[in-house]
Amino acid sequence: MSPERTYRPHVGRLVGFTSQKYPLTIILLIVLDLVDNAVGGIPLTSISAGLAAIGNTPLVRLGKLVPDGAAEVWVKLEGGNPTGSYKDRMAISVLSAAMARGDVTPGDTVVEFTGGSTGTALAFVCGVLGLKFTAVFSDAFSQSKQQAMEAFGAKVVVEKCVDGNITHELAERMKQRALALAEQPSYYYADQFGSPDVRRGYVPLGQEIARSLDGGFDVFCAAVGTGAAMMGTLDGMHEFGVKPKVIALEPSQSPLLTTGKSGGHKVEGIAVFPEPPFLDRSSLSEVRTVDQDKGFEMCRRLAREEGIFGGGSTGLNVCAAIELAVELGPGNRVVTFGCDNGVKYLGGHIYS
Ligand SMILES: Cc1ncc(COP(=O)(O)O)c(C=O)c1O
Repeated sequence: MSPERTYRPHVGRLVGFTSQKYPLTIILLIVLDLVDNAVGGIPLTSISAGLAAIGNTPLVRLGKLVPDGAAEVWVKLEGGNPTGSYKDRMAISVLSAAMARGDVTPGDTVVEFTGGSTGTALAFVCGVLGLKFTAVFSDAFSQSKQQAMEAFGAKVVVEKCVDGNITHELAERMKQRALALAEQPSYYYADQFGSPDVRRGYVPLGQEIARSLDGGFDVFCAAVGTGAAMMGTLDGMHEFGVKPKVIALEPSQSPLLTTGKSGGHKVEGIAVFPEPPFLDRSSLSEVRTVDQDKGFEMCRRLAREEGIFGGGSTGLNVCAAIELAVELGPGNRVVTFGCDNGVKYLGGHIYS
């Protein structure tokens, strides 16, 4: 069996809507099925080459880092998406659905509070769809993520953190600022922690994994922030009739899901809120903690020994996946995410 990048023909949907602000009816072609390569028969590249590049990322088997006698470990390299993370999948899902409903029209401003990956994805898709984007960000996250959002045309406002830590208090402050901004006319709150279109955006990710491995895998583990990537991916796997054991991960520095106690940590994108809003605990076999420093060390080893360049959540994912592979032994397969591209973390604590 040789799982590899898969490309499939898609049939998309053509969506038209009328702008309240402009005299002419504006027809936009919107991608409702995330990995569609064509919309109403029109190549997606005629809308934006960037949007066409979302999804269908490589799925690779780890080599050197997995000890002999362990199960196989497969990593879905989501850093291959246009802005370097799986958040591109949710951004096109959320914004295309909002436009289709008429909740937002070109010229409007989308607002979100973000650690940067979601913000960069939203900035990218907003730019293509003719929307403005304001990100509520913090200096707890990589400076390069702010630069990336600005490169895609976003306005970025910054909430200050304490001692470089990501805390629930910081997240709450960022949220309140985003909600206050969204009160203004022609502003739209993307709601990455509440919109059902967030989870839906990851369904193709699960389909891609199930298709590439021909349904043959046993365990799926991932660190959770909102829980949307894990749950949406699982939905996609279930569509293929695949029901792996599901193991959610969190940093041991903030073991809220396992112990109810939170703490400051430095793994960007995860362990953000007391209860991940999309996480359905009944579908989990287990929640595991991973020490963040082991995760960061894994990032460095992944880069040097496997040529996989990721961020802290990827480090946590791979630590747990290898641990599980050792426990399971030969003849089994563990799947996890390479959530994003390590380039975003240059200048930060992981690779300094
Ligand atoms: C780098 C990174 N990893 C993991 C996650 C967690 O994904 P989710 O919020 O879908 O659980 C995020 C979310 O922001 C992220 O940015």
